[in-house]
Amino acid sequence: MKEAADPNPPLVTGRLRLEPQRAEHTPLMMRVLADPRTHTYLPSDPPEDEAALRERYARLESRRSPDGSELWLNWVVFQSTQAIGTVQATVQPERAQAEVAYVFHPGNWGQGYAAEAVQALLDFLCTELEVKQFRATTDTRNLASQRLLERLGFTQVSEIRGADKFKGTVSDEYIYERGCGE
Ligand SMILES: CC(C)(COP(=O)(O)OP(=O)(O)OC[C@H]1O[C@@H](n2cnc3c(N)ncnc32)[C@H](O)[C@@H]1OP(=O)(O)O)[C@@H](O)C(=O)NCCC(=O)NCCS
Repeated sequence: MKEAADPNPPLVTGRLRLEPQRAEHTPLMMRVLADPRTHTYLPSDPPEDEAALRERYARLESRRSPDGSELWLNWVVFQSTQAIGTVQATVQPERAQAEVAYVFHPGNWGQGYAAEAVQALLDFLCTELEVKQFRATTDTRNLASQRLLERLGFTQVSEIRGADKFKGTVSDEYIYERGCGE
């Protein structure tokens, strides 16, 4: 990682603004996360209340895992003045690796916003944080996520059967990987 680099700065794309996630984004993100369709293939559920989400976002402002070994980076994605989703990266600086994840409001799906925001995240992590290898994990039923990863140049490298169990079903997962410049 470059010495002076801010690991979680604002980022801008053609149509979107990515703001470093902060507790003050809570009311805007409640709209995104309250929709159960956002959580279909995730173990999560809509936040119980605004206070719980605010507390979580406040904790994440440290941008670090509790033991300090990983960078936990989160951005809120804005289209004009509306928060439409989040992108996140768990970075292991020692190994130059990052796991990426993303969630967008169903009303904003299918317009290339996720691709645009995640591409900006990958570019930033490659050039500023000198990440060399990316990984992403998705439920095998989550076709939109798989299509997104493939469009971004990720390759499916393995499948984990019975990786998780939530909402009354077993979740099988695909692991995807990609290097920088691919
Ligand atoms: C996964 C997710 C971020 C994709 O968002 P999106 O805004 O629809 O993505 P984009 O518009 O950038 O589209 C990416 C690609 O997926 C395709 N796609 C979108 N919805 C799809 C669907 N239901 N089935 C198959 N492909 C789909 C798009 O056509 C596009 O492919 P293309 O470039 O070949 O046209 C969104 O569905 C989401 O937030 N889901 C809920 C949270 C989640 O599951 N996150 C991932 C956890 S691993």
